[in-house]
Parts: sequence; structure tokens; C-alpha cells
Amino acid sequence: MAIGIEDFCEDIVGKAMRGTGTSDTDLAALAGVDIESIQLLRRGGGHAVTVRAVAAPLGLHPEKLVDVFNRAWHPEERAVDGLFMVNTAFSDMFVNAYLIWDTASQEGALFDTGADASELISKAKQEKITIAHVFLTHTHLDHIADLDRAKAEYSNATVHVGSRELFPGAEPVEHGDVFAIGALTVSARLTWGHAEGGITYVVDGLDSLIAVVGDAMFAGSMGGGKVSYEDALRTNREEILSLPDDTILCPGHGPLTTVGEEKAHNPFF
Ligand SMILES: [Fe+2]
Repeated sequence: MAIGIEDFCEDIVGKAMRGTGTSDTDLAALAGVDIESIQLLRRGGGHAVTVRAVAAPLGLHPEKLVDVFNRAWHPEERAVDGLFMVNTAFSDMFVNAYLIWDTASQEGALFDTGADASELISKAKQEKITIAHVFLTHTHLDHIADLDRAKAEYSNATVHVGSRELFPGAEPVEHGDVFAIGALTVSARLTWGHAEGGITYVVDGLDSLIAVVGDAMFAGSMGGGKVSYEDALRTNREEILSLPDDTILCPGHGPLTTVGEEKAHNPFF
């Protein structure tokens, strides 16, 4: 399944402007370009020279941002035994959810439900995977939209959510909590800023280390810092980009990526 990059240059610039409280007028002055060029860039047009000029005032990496503007990069396609991704339509966008399982014991867990969990459920049935856990990265509606179906299918499964976004019927997850899925371990890291209680789940035991990051990070971008832009950047650096370079990142939107690719290509870092 080839999934396109989630954010274009104008999306990244918009997120950085909102995050830093920079207006079109501010940015034009800081970058030394006219406001029309800024507005054109914000609509998806413009020129690489403007892109390079606005990057530094917004704390973005100029060359990486120009590469995004030129659509010069896409993460490598990847497949890992024990990792199954679905991409479902929610309103006018697409959202990812994941099934991850221990291929020896066939014990597994869902990570978010997306708009429609039925593909995850069919895959688990087809592979005879038992599901005892549903781990939620955060509670924005697109990621948990089909939780009722997952709960009905797996009535004995425990639903886990960050303690700062707890809701009835779910168990609180704290930073540092560790869970088991068969021989796999799942460690929780608090990656908040996009969401109040966003959790990244680091799964160890498959051929690659995997981190299910929700909207904390996207291939070449990140979820908007709706709660705190600064803490989103900081926790992404501390808790995600500190993982080994070959760690596979499973974002809530857009394609799979790796820590190494994000260090090399993500304009926010
Ligand atoms: Fe979100």
C-alpha cells in the first residue's frame, strides 16, 4: 500500500507559524520577503528562494524544507513480519491504525482503530491472532472512531490510553509503563503537545524496533502542536528521535518512516 506524504511545504509552514505565533506580516519582515510571496507559499505556490528564507525564522531546517517543497523525498517502503497497517477514510482525510503481533505465539494488539477497524479484525482472524490489548495513541476522534467495534469484537481486551486523556472503560497509561504481547514488550513514552496525553508505544521483539507514534510525528512532518508546540518538538526529540536510527515509526497519518530518515529529512528537526 503506497501512502502519500501527509504534509506539504505549506502545511509545515502553517504548523510552524501557528506554533510560534508568527503572522504573515511577521514572517515577511523576519524573512525579508514581501507578504504576497508569503501568502503564495501558504497556498502551496511560490518559489524555493522564499521557502529557504522563511525556514530559519520559523525554526525549520532550510534544506530539508526545500526538499519537501520540491517533493524530493519519500520514505522507503517497508514491511515487517508481525506488523499490519491499515489506512481508512475519515471525513476528508485518511488515518492509520495498526495490528502488531508476536509471530511465535500469535498474541497481538491493536494500536488505534482508525475510522474502520474491520480490516484489522479480519487480518487477526485470518492469522488466528488473539487480541488482549487495544493501545490508543491519543483520543482525537479519527484515531478512535471505531473503538466500539473493536471492543465488541474483543470484549476481554484491555483498552489503554494516556492518563491525561483517560475516559471510562480505558486503563490509564503512564510514561514508562511496560506491557507484554506474547514475547514482545511494549513501552509507553509520553509524547504530548499535539494531544494532551499523547503516548508513543515502543514495541521490541520483532525484526525491527517499532514505535507507534500517533500524530506526534509524521514522515517529514508532525501533527500540529495544538496543546503545546514547544512540548511537541521537545518530546519528539527526547522520546522518538533518541531511538536507534533503524527504528520504524508508525504514524497516525501518512507512510511508515524511520528515525534515521526523519533525522535526515524532517524540517522540524
Ligand atoms: Fe491527532
